[in-house]
Amino acid sequence: MAAPGAQPEGTGDEEGASAAVRSMFDQIAPRYDLLNHVLSCNIDRLWWRRAARSFRQVLARPDAQILDLCCGTGDMTLALLRRRPKNGRPVLAADFAHQMLLRGAAKFVPRGAIPLEADALHLPLPAASVDLLTTAFGFRNLANYRAGLEEFYRVLKPGGELGILDFSEPGGPMGRLYAFYFRRVLPAVGSLVSGVSGAYRYLPSSVHRFPAPPQMLQTMRSVGFEPVSWTPYNFGIAGLYRGQKPS
Ligand SMILES: C[S@@+](CC[C@H](N)C(=O)[O-])C[C@H]1O[C@@H](n2cnc3c(N)ncnc32)[C@H](O)[C@@H]1O
Repeated sequence: MAAPGAQPEGTGDEEGASAAVRSMFDQIAPRYDLLNHVLSCNIDRLWWRRAARSFRQVLARPDAQILDLCCGTGDMTLALLRRRPKNGRPVLAADFAHQMLLRGAAKFVPRGAIPLEADALHLPLPAASVDLLTTAFGFRNLANYRAGLEEFYRVLKPGGELGILDFSEPGGPMGRLYAFYFRRVLPAVGSLVSGVSGAYRYLPSSVHRFPAPPQMLQTMRSVGFEPVSWTPYNFGIAGLYRGQKPS
């Protein structure tokens, strides 16, 4: 992978990048849900549900340990919970930004998920303890993508599944339209509504920095995931990476 990970403006090393990402999400937390739905015209709801549907088999197993990482305000967690049986083991929902997790917990704790304040690169979980690990729009923010994949591989059980839902940059005319929206419209509206200017400039730059699907799939394979796949959503504006830790 060319870029080791996310690098918000003004940060030099991985520690600095990680701290900047955390503080940015803590700042935008009060307006995050509103902005998300407005800026994505509510398409994000369909993406979370579609991603959860892809894992319906493991989600239907009552004993399965599910971890939703970078859960933020919890909408992916809720999509997963909708597919859990009544007697299912509680879903773990982890994030390192306290303000995001607080808002997520208010939504998902009443439905049976457990919040966990933790860094995705150093999970406080035993090796081989998770059956399904999902992360929606969080992976792109990790300060080191490969280290993230290695940590996911560590906590997954043999046969365990990984789902990474994130943005990508489509090509062609759709790509040009999308680039205009993402680089011009979105940072302006985002800054206005959230009152935090850097955060919504960071979003397009973090997507641009994020490896393209062929590179990402290659890194997933090199960490040990097999098989791996990428399914584009809505012309490739977003997409779901899937990987399995071999049995
Ligand atoms: C764009 S939000 C996505 C939230 C939610 N999954 C969703 O789909 O709306 C990204 C989240 O990832 C979290 N995050 C980024 N890096 C992280 C890390 N290293 N460890 C844990 N959480 C992280 C941020 O705090 C933020 O809440």
